[in-house]
Amino acid sequence: MRKNIVAGNWKMNKTFPEAEILMNGLSEYKKRNSTNCEIYIAPPSLYLETAKKIFQNTGIEVFAQDISEHIFGAYTGEISVEMIKSVGCSGSLVAHSERRQYHGETDRHANRKIKTLLDAGLTPIYCNGETLEQRKSGKHFDVVKNQTETALSTLSPEEVAKIIIAYEPVWAIGTGETATPEQAQEIHAFIRNLIAEKYGKNIADEISILYGGSVKPENAKEIFSQPDIDGGLIGGASLKIEDFSGIIEGFN
Ligand code: PGA
Repeated sequence: MRKNIVAGNWKMNKTFPEAEILMNGLSEYKKRNSTNCEIYIAPPSLYLETAKKIFQNTGIEVFAQDISEHIFGAYTGEISVEMIKSVGCSGSLVAHSERRQYHGETDRHANRKIKTLLDAGLTPIYCNGETLEQRKSGKHFDVVKNQTETALSTLSPEEVAKIIIAYEPVWAIGTGETATPEQAQEIHAFIRNLIAEKYGKNIADEISILYGGSVKPENAKEIFSQPDIDGGLIGGASLKIEDFSGIIEGFN
């Protein structure tokens, strides 16, 4: 079902005591306020279990930032889908641009990770988006098309209906530079159309497509008001309760 979602990606930030303070703050905020969107938090993997406990009965869902494409075994440093499932996670981000940039992840890896999550009954938030160079040379539609087609290539329409897509132009991540609402809407509509052509309009109308890249309380409302934007994946501004709640209120 197409839902409004604000998801916080904490990346590699916060010590454990700091993370606990932020989690408790969010939990209090959610208990005091009724929100018009779902709230997902992706803390560092070390804190997933604590997050799940603190967010109990708040409706806030916990996601991993990444998972292994393998089920279990000798993969030092990795965490598996079954591990995150066993501590109560709802799913995981997949192929965030920082995983692509620093760890050589491709859409082939993304495809296997998405499948692994779906097979376990969890939700993938699949991230895509072009670099500045690709945008400047007008290749952004082709790039996003190729990324999406590869990442979803082995999925059935029923499986595609269960994923969340986060379009995050690399040039807007952590740079303070945001795509204009029109630029974001244009590519969100393009992605939805791509899904419609391949898997049918019903499926395209069911999936949530989030925008990510320097979303702040000041620009959230306008971005979220675009017809094909169903919420945001928030990095920097998810680390402060005032900023993150201000973004959530972009749906009010
Ligand atoms: P940002 O990051 O909000 O700090 O730009 C977004 C993301 O990387 O998901």
